[in-house]
Amino acid sequence: MKVLVLAGSPHKNGTSNTLLKEFVKGAASVGKEVEIIDLAHTDIHPCLGCDACGMGGDCVQKDQGNEILNKILESDALIFVSPVYYYNVSAQLKTAIDRFYAKTMQITDKNLKAGVIMTAWNNDDWTYGAIDKYFDILFDYMHFKNAGRIYGKGCGTVSMMPRKYGEEAYKLGKEI
Ligand SMILES: Cc1cc2nc3c(=O)[nH]c(=O)nc-3n(C[C@H](O)[C@H](O)[C@H](O)COP(=O)(O)O)c2cc1C
Repeated sequence: MKVLVLAGSPHKNGTSNTLLKEFVKGAASVGKEVEIIDLAHTDIHPCLGCDACGMGGDCVQKDQGNEILNKILESDALIFVSPVYYYNVSAQLKTAIDRFYAKTMQITDKNLKAGVIMTAWNNDDWTYGAIDKYFDILFDYMHFKNAGRIYGKGCGTVSMMPRKYGEEAYKLGKEI
């Protein structure tokens, strides 16, 4: 099984990538192949909305967007990783999601398994309200099968992070 990760934090050793490392350990423990796209350090630009792709072709932009789309089409599962930025995913991750546009039909046809790993500073009941609804609708639209969503709260820094989220990430990697 091939798992592709779209990782949206600029912090290579930050909280969301720390959970991602646990995910990778879990996946490796059962022989799954994981590839990580570190979006903050990748040449990818926002969708131009030009519609040259017709939602089913190549993007006209000469960056790494098409390469990422091709990797998605070769995968069995997709994991979204991001810090919470103003009650949403980071712009780095949203930029990659918007670029799905060029291959919307091909991606939906795959019925990919998908999961989410996110971290937030705050520890309250509302931080993930809009985010979870967003992923519900995105998953429905893109025909993603929900494999699990980890919403880390009280995760402002690596040292603050409750241990349980690492365990959940490991389990998601193993079971996806
Ligand atoms: C631009 C920006 C916006 C943020 N917005 C929120 C927010 O809305 N809610 C929250 O709880 N934390 C917010 N945070 C804190 C981060 O989500 C938190 O520190 C997270 O652990 C950072 O993850 P990382 O280390 O993986 O980059 C924000 C941080 C930044 C830099």
